[in-house]
Amino acid sequence: MAYKVMGITAGRKNGNSEILLKEALTVCEEQGAEVTMINLRDFNILDCTGCTACTKAMSQGKHIGCTLDSKDDKKKIMDVMLNQDAVIFSVPTYDLMPASAYLTFAHRSLSYGSELLLALLGLALGSMLAPMLAHSPAYVRRVFRQKVSWQR
Ligand SMILES: Cc1cc2nc3c(=O)[nH]c(=O)nc-3n(C[C@H](O)[C@H](O)[C@H](O)COP(=O)(O)O)c2cc1C
Repeated sequence: MAYKVMGITAGRKNGNSEILLKEALTVCEEQGAEVTMINLRDFNILDCTGCTACTKAMSQGKHIGCTLDSKDDKKKIMDVMLNQDAVIFSVPTYDLMPASAYLTFAHRSLSYGSELLLALLGLALGSMLAPMLAHSPAYVRRVFRQKVSWQR
């Protein structure tokens, strides 16, 4: 069965993040993966209100999700995202941080108990983007060709 790889960007339409992500996904596809791509800017994702209902429930061993789950698109994205073998984030750096569309998305992951992991991943990829831009899509393609070896 083909590996499923999802690309998630939060940059401009046809911008640098999207171009780099498409290059990475193309390599995955060439290696036999089934790929999908979304841009967080196309979705309605509300800010975490900090109500802590999710973490209070977790501390009692319960999982109640997020109080905003039915009000926006976050859960719809997560339902697809958590069904992937791999997820690639491609997010522009704004003021030395990932762009806000990604941060809003990451903060809302607290109810999944993995906020820290997602935030760290986003920061790592965000800070990788700038050096990558000093190179070219061909560079990204080369790096991913080396990294995407799980199909062989
Ligand atoms: C508000 C703003 C802040 C930015 N801050 C940084 C920054 O701190 N460091 C950096 O290297 N680039 C910074 N940039 C440049 C963007 O990260 C860069 O242009 C990126 O490629 C844009 O991605 P996109 O084309 O996918 O939208 C900033 C751009 C904007 C609009």
